[in-house]
Amino acid sequence: MLDRLGPAAWAKVERETNTGPADLISLCVYDDSKTIALISASATHLGLPVEEALRVFGRYWVRFAELSSFGPIMDFTGQDLVTFINNLDRMHRSVVLAMPDARVPSFTLMEETRKRLLVRYRSDRTGLETFVIGLLEGLMDRLNETGSVEVAGRAGNTIDFAIHLDRD
Ligand code: HEM
Repeated sequence: MLDRLGPAAWAKVERETNTGPADLISLCVYDDSKTIALISASATHLGLPVEEALRVFGRYWVRFAELSSFGPIMDFTGQDLVTFINNLDRMHRSVVLAMPDARVPSFTLMEETRKRLLVRYRSDRTGLETFVIGLLEGLMDRLNETGSVEVAGRAGNTIDFAIHLDRD
């Protein structure tokens, strides 16, 4: 968010949500109400609807993760989309071994053709649909793919995302 808001606006968001740098440096598990408060305050300052701010946040999160101490984990998880998505659950499981309170989602690659991937997302949280779209877009940026992501179906706590790749 800092990248997009600039330092002054970010300082305001921090004051409004009672967040200090220490909360963010630890990055990992802060409770959802704080995350939502941060995103809503940032959305207001950016003049974006919350759903859109979540998407921007997801996309930037991938950049942030690769520049942080998580960089090597990202490299290890995969250098192409199919490998990355297939390894994502294992990666999350290993990351959360050290964080007993973390609740991680599950991703399954359901269909794969050259130009389209169908990815099933399961979570015990709701409301993160556009965040996941942003994360998938961020992964595409990282892995040198272009294209688009859309919701292909929803059922209960499961959302299917279709990734359309700009390939010949
Ligand atoms: C090195 C990279 C990554 C690390 C270390 C990581 C770690 C984590 C951790 C610890 C949580 C749980 C947070 C909590 O319970 O408070 C989480 C949640 C989540 N992760 Fe990751 N993650 C990484 C990459 C990714 C990527 C690339 C994606 C998507 C394509 C992803 C999708 C998600 C989603 C959607 C959640 C929210 C929880 C939910 O939907 O229930 N993560 N991740």
